[in-house]
Amino acid sequence: MARCEGKMDPTRRDVMALAGGLAGAQVVPGLAWAGAPGHRLTAAPAEVQLAPGDYPKTRVWAYDGRVPGSVLRRRQGETFEARLVNGLDQPTTVHWHGLRLPNAMDGVPGMTQAAVRPGESFDYRFVLRDAGTFWYHPHANSLEQISRGLAGVLVVDEAEPPEVDAEEILVLDDWRLTEDAQLHPEFGNRHDMSHAGRLGNYITVNGAGELRRSYPRGTRLRVRLVNAATARIFRLVFRGMDAWVVALDAMPLEAPERIEQVEIGPAQRVDLIVNVSAGTGEEAIIGSVERDGTYATVSVSVAGQEQAMRAAPHALPPNDLPTLALKDARQVPLVMEGGAMRGLPERVRWQGSKREARALYEAGQFWAFNGQAGMDGAPLIEAGMGETVRVPMENRTAFSHAMHLHGQHFREVLPEGRLGPWRDTLVVHPDETREIAFVAENPGDWMFHCHMAAHQMSGMMNWIRIT
Ligand code: C2O
Ligand code: CU
Repeated sequence: MARCEGKMDPTRRDVMALAGGLAGAQVVPGLAWAGAPGHRLTAAPAEVQLAPGDYPKTRVWAYDGRVPGSVLRRRQGETFEARLVNGLDQPTTVHWHGLRLPNAMDGVPGMTQAAVRPGESFDYRFVLRDAGTFWYHPHANSLEQISRGLAGVLVVDEAEPPEVDAEEILVLDDWRLTEDAQLHPEFGNRHDMSHAGRLGNYITVNGAGELRRSYPRGTRLRVRLVNAATARIFRLVFRGMDAWVVALDAMPLEAPERIEQVEIGPAQRVDLIVNVSAGTGEEAIIGSVERDGTYATVSVSVAGQEQAMRAAPHALPPNDLPTLALKDARQVPLVMEGGAMRGLPERVRWQGSKREARALYEAGQFWAFNGQAGMDGAPLIEAGMGETVRVPMENRTAFSHAMHLHGQHFREVLPEGRLGPWRDTLVVHPDETREIAFVAENPGDWMFHCHMAAHQMSGMMNWIRIT
C-alpha cells in the first residue's frame, strides 16, 4: 500500500501493476466457508501468500490456516457452537466481537474464562440473538495475536435477507512486514504504544493486496466491511458505485443512508447495499484514502449484460434492542489522557496505587481512563440491570481511539437529544467529546477499552460491571 513508515518495497501501485501483469495467474484468495454447526476452530501457525507472488509466503498465526479465518455463518436465533483448539505455543481465547451473548462466552481471559493453554480447547456455545456482521479474534496477548493474523468473520443471517445479486465480505487489514514479507517481530514497542498504534506498511483485503471482481452494470451487491486492523482507521471512497449504509457494527440503521465515503475504525463493521453504476467497460472501485493518494482495495471491471438500476434499498429488519431512558440516566464521564505530545497527568493510579507518570512510562504504560492506567479491582462503571448509563467520552489525547464496549451496544447522544445509530465501537478523535448511552441489559463483567491494541495493552483497558 501507500509509502508509509515501513521498509517493505511493494507499494500499492506495484501491487496493482503486478496483479495486472499476472492477468489472473495469481488467484485472489477467496473466503473459505465453514457452515457446519460445532465448527472446530483451530488457532495455529500457518503460511499464506500475503505479499505479491514474487515474495515469499508470510508466516502467520491463523484460524483454520487461513487469513482471514473461516467465515462462520449461521441464522439468527440458532445456537452457535464452536470448539476453539489452541495450536499456538501460548494461551489464547476467542472473543466474539459485537455479540450480545452470555458473559461466560465472551472470551476474556481472567475475567470470563481461563485462558486456553497450548494444546487445549474450549467450547463456545450461545444463542445468536442478533443478525448482522460480526467478527472474532483473540483476547489474549491481543496486539501480537491479532497482528499475526488471528481474525475471522461471523455472519448471522436475517430470517429474510434482502435481495441482492451477490455478496462481498471484505476484511480490511494492515500488516507491518519486513523486506522478506515476514511479520515485523517487534510487538508493542514504545513508539507504537504511545502514538497511533502498530500501523502497518501493507494493506490487504481478504488477505490479498487488491481484490478484483467483474460484475455487470446494475448489479446489486451486499457488502460487509470489517476492519480487523489493530490501529489503522480506513477512509473508503466509492467510485462507480451507489452505496447505502444499511447497518453499523451489525445493527441495522432505521433508514439506509446514501454515502460517498465512510470511515471505519479498528473493529468496526459497515454493511452496505451497493448498485454498480459505472458504465460497461469502466471500472468501479472501493478506494482507501491514504496520505499520498487513493488506492484501490477492490476493483470491479464492469462487464456483461446490464441490469436495470434498482432503487434505494429498504432498511434491514431491526434487531431487538432496548429503549434508552435518557432523562433519568446516570452520567459517568470518561476522560482519556496520555500518549505522546500530551502525556499523562502527573500522578496516575496503576496496580493499586498512585504513581508518578514517569514510573508508568518506564513500565510501558502511556494512557489512562479517569486517571487510572489499565484495570484495577474496581470497575469503571457499575450498573444495575435495566439502568441507562450515559458516558461522555472526552479525548484529551493527541490520537484517535476506537472505544469498544463488550456485551451491549450503545448509541451516541447527539445535540438536541437525538440519538445516533447503535454501535459497539466508536472512534473518538483528538479533542472530541462523544457521549454514548447504553442500557445495562446483560449481566456480568464486560471489557470497555480502546480497540487499538497497542493502546489497550498500555493503559486503555478497563471494565464495567452489570448486576
Ligand atoms: Cu474486539 Cu475487547 O474486543
Ligand atoms: Cu486508543
